[in-house]
Amino acid sequence: MDFSSYVENIKSKFKKEQLKTFDFIVCFDKLNLASLGSNDIEGYQVFTPEHIVKQMVEAIGEDVLDFNKTILEPTSGDGAFTTYILRKRLDTIKNDFEAESLKALSTIYSIEMDKELIIKQRNNIFTLIKLYVKENKIEVDESYFDMVKCIITTNFLWAMFNTDNKEGPLFGISVAYKMPNAEKGDLKLLDFPVWNITKENVTYHEEGVEV
Ligand SMILES: C[S@@+](CC[C@H](N)C(=O)[O-])C[C@H]1O[C@@H](n2cnc3c(N)ncnc32)[C@H](O)[C@@H]1O
Repeated sequence: MDFSSYVENIKSKFKKEQLKTFDFIVCFDKLNLASLGSNDIEGYQVFTPEHIVKQMVEAIGEDVLDFNKTILEPTSGDGAFTTYILRKRLDTIKNDFEAESLKALSTIYSIEMDKELIIKQRNNIFTLIKLYVKENKIEVDESYFDMVKCIITTNFLWAMFNTDNKEGPLFGISVAYKMPNAEKGDLKLLDFPVWNITKENVTYHEEGVEV
């Protein structure tokens, strides 16, 4: 399937920084996930190892594999959970890999406030899909990978997650604030996209984050 016209249309509506994010997405040689790191303000943080990710995802059950159900990883690091869940979803696809895999990706949402980590995570997601296609000898149009990059750009956000609104119109509502503004106290709310992917068309519209 040729996605070029959809990609062109979607990119024409992207803001400057989204175009930069799109252009920045690259494929690593292999997944680049840390189980230990040193990148937060306390100088030390733990990334969840795969066997724990596996147990936690299994505890959620089959819902995780339903592409119509949305998943939000609000403090996502370099993608321990998002890459694991996406791979599990890809494993369930029997036919029509291009459209189905885009659907699988499009309902995974991710927030991370550390810029380096969200960049790394976007690349991990892209790498996972590229290697999956290669290793399983799946035929895809070259334009498919640009469509993947469009979804990664809109769904994997450099943002600060906050469930702690104690007053005002956002009382009790979970939100995502744009980075780096949020760190300076300038709280700009972010929207998440809702993708509509069919064989005939690929579009998205934005909706407020409410989880
Ligand atoms: C301990 S790491 C875990 C990352 C990943 N969930 C994992 O299990 O490997 C926590 C991550 O959450 C990010 N983080 C902490 N508070 C956040 C917030 N309010 N909004 C977005 N990201 C946040 C940190 O930058 C860090 O990368």
